[in-house]
Amino acid sequence: MTSVHHPGIENPYLTGNFAPVRDERDDPDLEVTGSIPAGLDGLLLRNGPNPVVDPDPASYHWFLGDGMLHGIELTGGKAHYRNRWVRTSEACAALGESPPVDALPPVNGLGAKANTHVVTHAGRIFALVESSLPTEVRADLSTVGATDFDGTLTTPFTAHPKLDPMTGELHFFGYDYFGPPFLRYHVLDARGALVRTEPIAIPGPVMMHDFAITNRSVVFLDLPVVFDMALVGKQPFPFTWRPERGARVGVMPRTGASDDVAWCEIEPCFVYHPLNAYDDADGNVVMDVVRYPDMFRAEVFGPGATASPTLDRWTIDPAKRSVATEHIDDVGQEFPRIDERLTGRVHRYGYTVEVAVGEHWNGLGGLRKHDLVAGTVERHEPGDGRQASEPVFVPASPDAGEDEGWILSVVYDAGRDSSDLVIVDATDFTAPSVATVHLPRRVPFGFHGSWVGGVSLT
Ligand SMILES: [Fe+2]
Repeated sequence: MTSVHHPGIENPYLTGNFAPVRDERDDPDLEVTGSIPAGLDGLLLRNGPNPVVDPDPASYHWFLGDGMLHGIELTGGKAHYRNRWVRTSEACAALGESPPVDALPPVNGLGAKANTHVVTHAGRIFALVESSLPTEVRADLSTVGATDFDGTLTTPFTAHPKLDPMTGELHFFGYDYFGPPFLRYHVLDARGALVRTEPIAIPGPVMMHDFAITNRSVVFLDLPVVFDMALVGKQPFPFTWRPERGARVGVMPRTGASDDVAWCEIEPCFVYHPLNAYDDADGNVVMDVVRYPDMFRAEVFGPGATASPTLDRWTIDPAKRSVATEHIDDVGQEFPRIDERLTGRVHRYGYTVEVAVGEHWNGLGGLRKHDLVAGTVERHEPGDGRQASEPVFVPASPDAGEDEGWILSVVYDAGRDSSDLVIVDATDFTAPSVATVHLPRRVPFGFHGSWVGGVSLT
């Protein structure tokens, strides 16, 4: 995508800990303060934008940097760090390397960066960005290449698929920029084969970053952040706020089709991330979301809004096509995560990281643990000058209780200009971390990651 140059504009997503790092490292046997729990045996993978070549600050958008994976392996109480760029075709070209063996052309005509999330399914690891096919990577962080599931997927794959913990299916969607139906819902079976694709008609091309599943339903977010082809090349990111378009939440039975979606009008807003959703006894869908009052009202270099996002609960009645809103927590927060053994089922606990969002992201902060039954929140303080990132929950054992486990979060320490992995006992959330793994370098503020048990970087 080309962009017009705006001389003299400083881009906040290229400074401080948003700035990219320039090398690929491999550092075994890291220094640890405290004690890594013996039950943590596996690999924390994180993904985020990290442009290979210094971009033009006037035209760079945070969402468009090349993806870089950071891996922190925990085994036998020891920790090992490695980082690698995802070798998409574009990243390979920028690095001066040959493209991946099985490189596939972009599915949307705009290229792909694989910079948003990294997930596992059916024994494979995928680096994801919502504009593209998945890029398969290995546990050693090397890249296999883009995958189209043996030619069965020809359209984009969200960065936020949902693994159904009961069936092992991976539910996902993709949205299009250029023509109807603009949205498709898909299912990969437990063995990783694409077994379902359902076109869903929506009026036009909107940014649909995430969605939710429940036991019975799929929930889509048709919100007024619109792709505008006329903005391509005119501003860093060609999406804009169009509240006059209206905002809708759509509930579709899992076995349903486009005509079965119950679209429910809501006040215009934007949601990147639901925490989770579930069916209640009255036929409603309860969905907790991180909600912004707006998004991309002005041309910016990242996800700017007129206020920081808050945690809200939507109770959606598909029969009446109504949505009741309850404010859970007015503190600015993002990157909500649950114990993913409960995806689509009733959750009691949710975890977020504090953020301050205005015209730009003005930083991250402490971690929050919500008890949605008691209506309380606890806070984990990362320390002076320290900023946490997305909290990833790892259960202590397969049959552990909902909050019996650890929160893993990469924390940036501005004083040292470096980062740590902190491991927090989720049942003792306000206490100091049980272990702090001192990483050999800073990890730039990125987006999402996953814990992959039982695998190794080597
Ligand atoms: Fe996301």
